[in-house]
Amino acid sequence: MNETGATSAAGGALLSARGLAKSYTMGDARLGILRDLDFDVRAGETVSIMGVSGAGKTTLLHILGGLDRPSGGSVFYRGQDLYGMSTGRRNAIRARKIGFVFQAYHLLPELDVIENVMLPSMNSAWDGMSAWRERLRAAWRGVVYAGARERARRLLEAVGLAERAGHLPGELSGGEQQRAALARALMNDPEIVLADEPTGNLDAATGRQVLDRLMALVHENGKTLVMVTHNAAITRLCDRAFDLAEGRLSPFSC
Ligand SMILES: Nc1ncnc2c1ncn2[C@@H]1O[C@H](COP(=O)(O)OP(=O)(O)OP(=O)(O)O)[C@@H](O)[C@H]1O
Ligand SMILES: [Mg+2]
Repeated sequence: MNETGATSAAGGALLSARGLAKSYTMGDARLGILRDLDFDVRAGETVSIMGVSGAGKTTLLHILGGLDRPSGGSVFYRGQDLYGMSTGRRNAIRARKIGFVFQAYHLLPELDVIENVMLPSMNSAWDGMSAWRERLRAAWRGVVYAGARERARRLLEAVGLAERAGHLPGELSGGEQQRAALARALMNDPEIVLADEPTGNLDAATGRQVLDRLMALVHENGKTLVMVTHNAAITRLCDRAFDLAEGRLSPFSC
């Protein structure tokens, strides 16, 4: 399998899933969440996934993003089997290519807003750095830090939070925290953004504001988007919409 080209398994998709299954064992009972699920998203596409609470939307998004191993089936990122590769390689793809917006922001409370946005770049900056280069690190760290901080500042500007860069997450409203989380998701310039009900915890007006920012960032930067939502109106903003029910996706028309 090559680094950049898609294979026939992915059919030219940026991200695809074949025969996905996920189940949990609770005592004697086996709880089937996803069953033989197929999914494809092409580069530059925006896709929404609807479904009732408990349908498995978060589970699916985490599996698609390399965060949670499926019980069966495969996920391909540009034709590369995410769960057939080493954990290190999967983590590297996740860090560099996939931006996550979680259902509940997940900002670190001790770091200020700009440091939260910078976090993904700090992780990926050290990938592959070998121990004998220790003496170069101090100088390198300075360069990386300054570059990352400047990128984070620009992203905060793009989500309308430039003046809150030095605040702690606890000092921000829910909508502001979610906008900071959008900036963080884009920090490493990922190819695809996976957003799990990014407006789910917000009132209608604030949710709309966050959504507008997200769609603008996605379109302006040519990103691919897979977004989970409860809201049928939101699905109209996306190129394609699916309903997740009984463990499978079906096309959703609004
Ligand atoms: N670690 C786990 N162990 C057992 N069951 C789990 C686990 N994680 C999730 N589940 C179950 O899997 C089902 C799907 O959960 P998931 O969080 O994916 O749903 P969802 O569609 O995202 O729901 P919501 O809209 O409420 O966020 C739920 O019934 C949940 O209880
Ligand atoms: Mg969920």
